[in-house]
Amino acid sequence: MIQLYHVSKSYSNYQALTDISLRVEKGEFLYITGPSGAGKTTLLNIVFCGVKADQGQIIVNGKNILKLKDSDIPYYRREIGVVFQDFKLLPKKTVAENIAFAQRVIGVGNKEIKKRVWMLLKMVGLSHKKDTFPLRLSGGEQQRVAIARALINEPQIILADEPTGNLDYDISMEIMKLFEDSNTKGATIIVATHNREILKNFPHRIVKLNQGRVVTE
Ligand SMILES: Nc1ncnc2c1ncn2[C@@H]1O[C@H](COP(=O)(O)OP(=O)(O)OP(=O)(O)O)[C@@H](O)[C@H]1O
Ligand SMILES: [Mg+2]
Repeated sequence: MIQLYHVSKSYSNYQALTDISLRVEKGEFLYITGPSGAGKTTLLNIVFCGVKADQGQIIVNGKNILKLKDSDIPYYRREIGVVFQDFKLLPKKTVAENIAFAQRVIGVGNKEIKKRVWMLLKMVGLSHKKDTFPLRLSGGEQQRVAIARALINEPQIILADEPTGNLDYDISMEIMKLFEDSNTKGATIIVATHNREILKNFPHRIVKLNQGRVVTE
């Protein structure tokens, strides 16, 4: 379960989030929507511990994440699969190595990694690009690598920031089905998006932000 209590965040003197209280149940699928600059990425980054809230409390699976020591954060993040809006792929690693990396970190054996990477490559339709480097990929291909990387460890929490922002309609629907499958298997999912097709075709609870505040649930 993810709970935010009265969370605020400002960057220098710009108030990006104001008094956000939100509860996401274990196994829930939640959308965060709202116009550009509303604070969607900031909110996901706060849950990922990439950005620190100035005020409030964030409890994830019983842990008060504002109290995590720097050395605990990598372990905390192992429970989370994240798709960044700007992908953050490792430029010197191939597609397959980017996807495999999260498995190597947790010490999975080579044979198992190879099997899972191959499966994920097929799921996101990139088997033919497995040895390519990220900079040689289109935006949509990079996005799909980021999605495969987020899913490979079967995380209990998935945070996806505009995961279909660079994808055409058909591929977006395929990708959303992958998130739906993970959700069916029990993962808690938060997707930030302003893609109306997705909200319509895969309906779930929507929290709408505007200028850093929750405007509707
Ligand atoms: N590192 C930063 N330094 C200063 N201001 C920032 C920083 N990151 C975000 N902001 C500001 O905070 C506000 C919220 O940004 P955020 O990226 O969370 O919005 P968003 O809802 O994800 O927008 P988009 O739909 O364009 O991705 C914006 O006005 C942005 O300019
Ligand atoms: Mg954003």
